Amino acid sequence: MSRLTIQQEIFSILGIKEPVLLGEGSESQAYEYTADKVVKIYKGPVERDNLDHLCSIYAWLSTHHLPFAVPEIYAIEQHEDTVYLIEKKLVGRPISTVYARLQTNERQRLLSNYLKAVRHLQGVTLPTQPYGSIFHAPGQSPVPYQSWRQFLRETAPLKLPQTQDDLRQEGIDVARLLETFLQDIENVPDTPEKNFVHGDYFFGNVLVDDKLKISAVLDVSWWSVVGDHLMDIAGAVMFLDLYEYVTPQEITSLTRQALALYGPEILTAIRVYGVYYSLLLSDCKLFDPAAYSWSIKRLREYMQ
Ligand SMILES: Nc1ncnc2c1ncn2[C@@H]1O[C@H](COP(=O)(O)OP(=O)(O)O)[C@@H](O)[C@H]1O
Ligand SMILES: [Mg+2]
Repeated sequence: MSRLTIQQEIFSILGIKEPVLLGEGSESQAYEYTADKVVKIYKGPVERDNLDHLCSIYAWLSTHHLPFAVPEIYAIEQHEDTVYLIEKKLVGRPISTVYARLQTNERQRLLSNYLKAVRHLQGVTLPTQPYGSIFHAPGQSPVPYQSWRQFLRETAPLKLPQTQDDLRQEGIDVARLLETFLQDIENVPDTPEKNFVHGDYFFGNVLVDDKLKISAVLDVSWWSVVGDHLMDIAGAVMFLDLYEYVTPQEITSLTRQALALYGPEILTAIRVYGVYYSLLLSDCKLFDPAAYSWSIKRLREYMQ
């Protein structure tokens, strides 16, 4: 049965007559369900264990009195081989859908709020967990890394067997890149405080309300790790240039704000974690060309 038919059947099971799409990411689509609930339908396979774990991570996050909402999963359901979740409906719209229409001063205010919000994740820690992924890829067991650098060293190159030919065609000297990167990893902390790192903190996963306050942070995923909080700060800054409507001046302004708060370590974090993300995104040429171009541009700049 086609994905569309299965989706129709899910709407019919839930009594949704006229489905309204609230948003879409790379893994799922969210539709209105009731006044205070949404249904999130996955596009591909998902591990049940990971969803149970996701549920408990959201419940745990919600105990931290964060100034924004996080998702709440009410039910995990399946129809044929399609998994769907019933979740609390969160207030706001993704920044990615509102930013382009804002005035310059509103954009500045929103960018500051966006940076301020992610800072609240500092101190949300998992001290008894090993460094590294909170979730695991289908079929794989999570690897307990003893140090943050070990996690970076061993995880960043994981996609290279599939992607190194593409990277070479893009003019990237993969051997030299890895050598430089492995040396550069020594510049980030080896055993930072074991912070919860969202790992995918960018405009698509952050909701903003009408007053330009950050109302929710979504999408804890396999990018989420136990490690250096600066990875999220670096992400907030470096994912800005995924969007052509964010100006270079706005990127410089947010980088300066981060620099004022964290000092030069933030520049190291942007550089090193930028390579980590680029290498792990190097396989998305076909399904996410914008992210692929972002990676290639970053890797080229890194090698200059
Ligand atoms: N609980 C929710 N309430 C309102 N909108 C949501 C909710 N969950 C997801 N969305 C919308 O769906 C989009 C995709 O959801 P997300 O959790 O980021 O999935 P993906 O893993 O596919 O990126 C979001 O950008 C947002 O617009
Ligand atoms: Mg998302």
